[in-house]
Amino acid sequence: MSTTIDLEALGDSAAIPDRIARFPFPFPRDTYRYSTNVEPAGSVVETPVGGWGTHPVDVDGRYREDLAERTRILAEDPTRFQALPHMEIAQWDAMLTLMRMLTDAHPETFSLDGDGAARRFTNRALGVEQSFVFGDPSTLPEPPLLFVGRHLQEDVVLLDQREGALWGDAGLVTFAADWSLRFDVGMSFLQIHGPVPRVHTEGVIPRAQQFLMGLQPGRQYRRTNWSLSVDRLLDQSTETYPVWGRDRRLLAEGPLEDVGRRLNLRVEVQHLVRLGVSGAIMFLIRTYLLPFEDIARVPEWAERLCRVLEELPEDMADYKGITRTREPGVRWLRTYGGVRS
Ligand code: HEM
Repeated sequence: MSTTIDLEALGDSAAIPDRIARFPFPFPRDTYRYSTNVEPAGSVVETPVGGWGTHPVDVDGRYREDLAERTRILAEDPTRFQALPHMEIAQWDAMLTLMRMLTDAHPETFSLDGDGAARRFTNRALGVEQSFVFGDPSTLPEPPLLFVGRHLQEDVVLLDQREGALWGDAGLVTFAADWSLRFDVGMSFLQIHGPVPRVHTEGVIPRAQQFLMGLQPGRQYRRTNWSLSVDRLLDQSTETYPVWGRDRRLLAEGPLEDVGRRLNLRVEVQHLVRLGVSGAIMFLIRTYLLPFEDIARVPEWAERLCRVLEELPEDMADYKGITRTREPGVRWLRTYGGVRS
C-alpha cells in the first residue's frame, strides 16, 4: 500500500514527534548478539509509539537536509561513489528499481513515465525532471547509481554474484558507520566482514552469504544494525575519523547533563534486494539517529537500551567503538532517563 507524504508536514508538531514515532528501535530483547537477523521486508513493525518499515526507501522530514549533506560530502570526496567497470548494467538496474520504489512509496512526489528504454523521472520535492534511455550513459549527467543516489536518503552497495561468492563491486556510501567504501570496493562478502568479531567462528557471515546467494529476483528482505554516535553526524566513514573520533572522548569527559542531548542511538535499517535484469544484490543502508533524551520519552526503550548497553560483551563494544560512550550513556539513562530497575 502506498502512503501519501507531505514533506513539510513531517516536522515536530505532533505530540510524539515523527522522529520518535517512526524510529526503528532495534532491540527485541534485553541482550544483543550478532545473528543472521533477516526477515521479509514490507510489513510495518509496530513500536509503543508508532511504527516503521513500510517501504524499502523511506522519505522523511529530513529529506532535503540529508540530500544536501550527501551533495556536500560528494563534492569534498568523490571517492564515496565507486563502481567497477563490469557493474554498469547493475547500476542501471539499481537506478530504475530505486526510481520505482520511490514512486510506489510517494506517488505525489515522484513519478516514472514511459516504457521500454525511454523514460522520464520526476522528483517534485527537489524540482528535478530527467529523461533518459536505459543503458545509454550519454542520456544522464553522471553514472546511474550516483544520479539516483541524489534522490534517496539511503546508502547503496551493489554486489556481483560469481565464483560461488558475492563481491561488493559498486556503491554510493556517504553515511557509513566507521568503514570505507573506497577500501572495501572489489572485496568479497567474507572479506568485507573480516573486521567483525565473533561472526566468523559462529558462522553468521557464511550463512548470510548462502542466504543472499539464493535470493530470488524481486524478493526483499531487511535487517537492522546499531551503534552509538555523538551528535547528529551521518558521515562517520573511516576517511573522516579525525572529525568524529575525538568527540567520543570529549563526551565521556564532559558533563553528564549533556549526554542526553548529544549521545544518539544510531540504527541502520538495511534492505536486501535481488535485481531482476543484472542479477546483482542491492544492499540499502538507511541510518537513523535518535538522541538519548528522545529515547527516554519511551520508557520501554530507555529500560531496554540501558540493559543492552550494560550487558554487551567488551569485544563487541570495542568493535562498535562505544567503549568510552556506553558508560556515560547508561549513567545518563539511570540519572535523568527514568531507568530505575
Ligand atoms: C558489518 C552482518 C549484509 C557490509 C556487519 C556486522 C554484522 C554484519 C554483524 C557488524 C556490525 C556492528 O557490530 O556494528 C551482516 C549480515 C548481513 C550483512 C547478517 C546479511 C544478511 C551486508 C552486505 C554488505 C555488508 C550485503 C554489503 C557490502 C558490511 C560492512 C560492515 C558490516 C561494510 C562494516 C565492516 C567493517 O568494520 O569494516 N555486518 N551483514 N553487510 N557489514 Fe554486514
